[in-house]
Formats: sequence, C-alpha cells, structure tokens
Amino acid sequence: MRIDVLSIFPEYLEPLRLSLIGKAVTDGLLELSVTDPRSFATDRHRTVDDTPYGGGAGMVMKPEPWALALESVLQAGPGDAAASPPVLVVPSPAGEVFTQDVAYELAAEEHLIFACGRYEGIDERFLEWASGEVRVRPMSLGDYVLNGGEVAVLAMTEAVTRLIPGVIGNPESLAEESHTGGLLEYPVYTKPSEWRERSVPETLLSGHHGRIARWHRDQQLERTARRRPDMIFALDPATLDRADLAV
Ligand code: ADE
Repeated sequence: MRIDVLSIFPEYLEPLRLSLIGKAVTDGLLELSVTDPRSFATDRHRTVDDTPYGGGAGMVMKPEPWALALESVLQAGPGDAAASPPVLVVPSPAGEVFTQDVAYELAAEEHLIFACGRYEGIDERFLEWASGEVRVRPMSLGDYVLNGGEVAVLAMTEAVTRLIPGVIGNPESLAEESHTGGLLEYPVYTKPSEWRERSVPETLLSGHHGRIARWHRDQQLERTARRRPDMIFALDPATLDRADLAV
C-alpha cells in the first residue's frame, strides 16, 4: 500500500516513522510520503489560506496549492490505470464516522491520500474538483473538534495499516479485539494470580476451554451493555446464541 499525506505541518506526521508503521515501511509493506501544499503556493509569502467569502471567523485553505499537491502525488503514486482511483480521505468533524469497518475497507486499498485541512477547512471547490480525480471520503474521528486533520490522520493510519497482512506479528490478535464482531473486548489478566488482595477470576484458572470461552463471551456482552448500549442494540440477533440471551 502507498499512503500520501498532504499537510502544511509535515513535522506533525513524524510519529508515522516510529513503531509498527515505521517497521512496515522498512519491511517494504508500506510506502509513506508527506507533501506540503505550501511548497506549491506561488506568491512571495507562500500563502495557503485566506478569509472566508460570506464572512465568519477563521481562515479557509485556498484550493490551488491543494490541487497542485494532489496532482503531484497522483503522478508519483502507483498509477495503475486498471485499478480504481486512489481514495482521498479528508479528516473533518463534518465527515462520516471512522469505524473499524471503514478501517478494514481502507486497508484493502492500494493508494490512500489524506488531506489535512487546518483552520475552517479547505475551499469546497477543491473537494468538488478532486471528486473527478479520486474517490473523496470526508471522515470524522468522532463528535468533537480538533485543530486540524493531522492528529486524526495519525489515528486513522495506525488503525488502517495494522490491518495490512504482515504488519502485525500475530494476526489472531486482530480477530479477538474490540469492535470486531460488534462487541467490546473482554478483560484480561496475567501473573501473579493474586495481586494486592485481588484474584484472577477462577474460571480462567480452570483450564476448561469451553467454560473459559463462555466466560469471555459473557464478559464481552456485559461490558458492551454497560459501556456501549448503542452497540448492543445494533447487534444482529442471528449472531446471538441461547446462552447470550441469559446474560
Ligand atoms: N478535524 C477537526 N476535527 C476533527 C475530527 N473530529 N475528526 C477528524 N478530523 C477532524
């Protein structure tokens, strides 16, 4: 997979060079590049923003430096004419909500481009024009407002790249985690079995695989009902067994 990030604060994306994403780059599983639209601004001050038409607070990113930056990464990208066009993810509190399902969809793509708007966002005509070149997906991390898209891109790239085959050492760990299968993860314990007068639940020490699996499932259902009742209501009843209904 290739990931391009367009940002006027490229230093913000430095953490992408660390840890598992950094290793995926070194191992050749991921190509990663950050491009600064400011380097495509043509005036003496390299202006990338201006005041909004119609008034209002804050500044709006000008479309042309973003269009030139996007064109440059499209030229440099894999550019397989037979493949679908790249996906342009535009982080915005006004986007669709980024979920684990979206992370799986994006992990199947060959080329992702993230456009990190700042201030009040990017001129809407850039997004209209870009829809003719790429598949545009405005995407929100959740119902709160960040100062810009960079932190959202760090979160989304981590969620996506760890799903690329080979990035995580043990792929089984993906199957059991929260948000896979519509439930939150069960609580986990390690040695010692007694710690500060607290014991590990007896079932986990029993060695009985059937009872342990049932305990895990019950804990998932109870925890999800308590913390995320919205997820319980969204469950497909066909995925529930009789013992689930007793929880
Ligand atoms: N930019 C500003 N707020 C954001 C959010 N909640 N999600 C994604 N990008 C953002």
